[in-house]
Amino acid sequence: MSQSSQIATTLQVSLEERSYPIHIGPDLIRRPDSLVPYLAGRQVMIVSDDNVAPLYLASLISALPDGLDVRELVLPAGEQHKTLACVERIWTALLEAGFNRRCTLVALGGGVVGDMVGFAAACYQRGVAFIQVPTTLLAQVDSSVGGKTGVNHPLGKNMVGAFWQPRAVLIDTNSLSTLPVRELSAGLAEVIKYGLIRDEPFLAWLEEHMAALRALDSHALVYAIERSCRLKAEIVAEDETEQGVRALLNLGHTFGHAIETHQGYGSWLHGEAVGTGMMMAAALSHHLGWIDGHDVTRVEAVIASAGLPLAAPADMGVDDFLAVMRLDKKNLDDRLRLILLKQLGDACVHDQTPGDILHQLLKDFPRNA
Ligand code: NAD
Ligand code: GLY
Repeated sequence: MSQSSQIATTLQVSLEERSYPIHIGPDLIRRPDSLVPYLAGRQVMIVSDDNVAPLYLASLISALPDGLDVRELVLPAGEQHKTLACVERIWTALLEAGFNRRCTLVALGGGVVGDMVGFAAACYQRGVAFIQVPTTLLAQVDSSVGGKTGVNHPLGKNMVGAFWQPRAVLIDTNSLSTLPVRELSAGLAEVIKYGLIRDEPFLAWLEEHMAALRALDSHALVYAIERSCRLKAEIVAEDETEQGVRALLNLGHTFGHAIETHQGYGSWLHGEAVGTGMMMAAALSHHLGWIDGHDVTRVEAVIASAGLPLAAPADMGVDDFLAVMRLDKKNLDDRLRLILLKQLGDACVHDQTPGDILHQLLKDFPRNA
């Protein structure tokens, strides 16, 4: 069997001339033929972080064919390093290497590396090629697909960035074997999100298979990654720059970004904050009379079964939430736009939440002891 025929699945993100494949399968990091066709030229800069590089960088480099000019850059790991300063380090490394417009950046790591490398690629010499090789579950099911790139600002998450699509996404499902348990749970939050916004049967599947996913059962993982990527690819193809339906992918994120920003980047993991944020969105949807108490219990149970926190930080008051939520990128004309649940599997954008109901929700929502 040829190596390329061992790729388990290939999905397509359909964006006309910016279309690209998502390859999903075991051991893709060691399979050069899955990556080489997407290189723009000989110059290749692989950017990783200091947790992922010792695990996978050598395998990726040794799998590349001779004749390429391959450089590497290892950045410090963690959300607190998703900064313009780290992106500048990428640009400096590219300039020092004399890389031109036909270079390719490869992001080897989680969403932090992927978002920064994509942004560096979007701006370097006004735009160069990049490839996503995501190694966290969260990056495999969400951040590596769709072309949202950027960095955090001290005043708000992901406030500086660009839409810039990768040339390809290579998901090596074996890389999840080294992922810390807490990071796996964080990734499951984004998987659950797809079920909640658009795919109730997937939510039901997740309720049944959560234990298998947390035990790294490879069949269950590949199925969940594929189904998540398929849903994301559909939404991105419909609405690349978030003029409409793509906003639904932000379920739980307005509350979640407030938690991440208030607590200090890296304290709560992004997926953890999204998990609690989805609980808050479910509770608010119930207060508005849309979903019933049984639905809220279902949301709570599936989030808990993924090992995610269910209560907000003890030190966050109503005003702490509102101060960050008012800066959210989705807001228009000073109106808070929230993603809420009409039903499980059917989300909507809502900008008419009465202030007193939101205030009550933020006040009453459980806090950590
Ligand atoms: P991350 O990149 O910080 O990775 C989590 C941790 O796991 C890091 O310490 C990393 O070094 C380590 N790690 C990564 N792969 C590993 C592996 N295989 N084995 C062992 N350790 C490994 O975090 P994340 O959860 O992947 O991504 C979160 C980021 O993604 C946030 O900044 C969030 O805003 C962003 N995001 C972006 C989008 C988008 O559409 N662009 C979507 C969702 C989230
Ligand atoms: N994770 C949100 C988006 O890609 O739109």
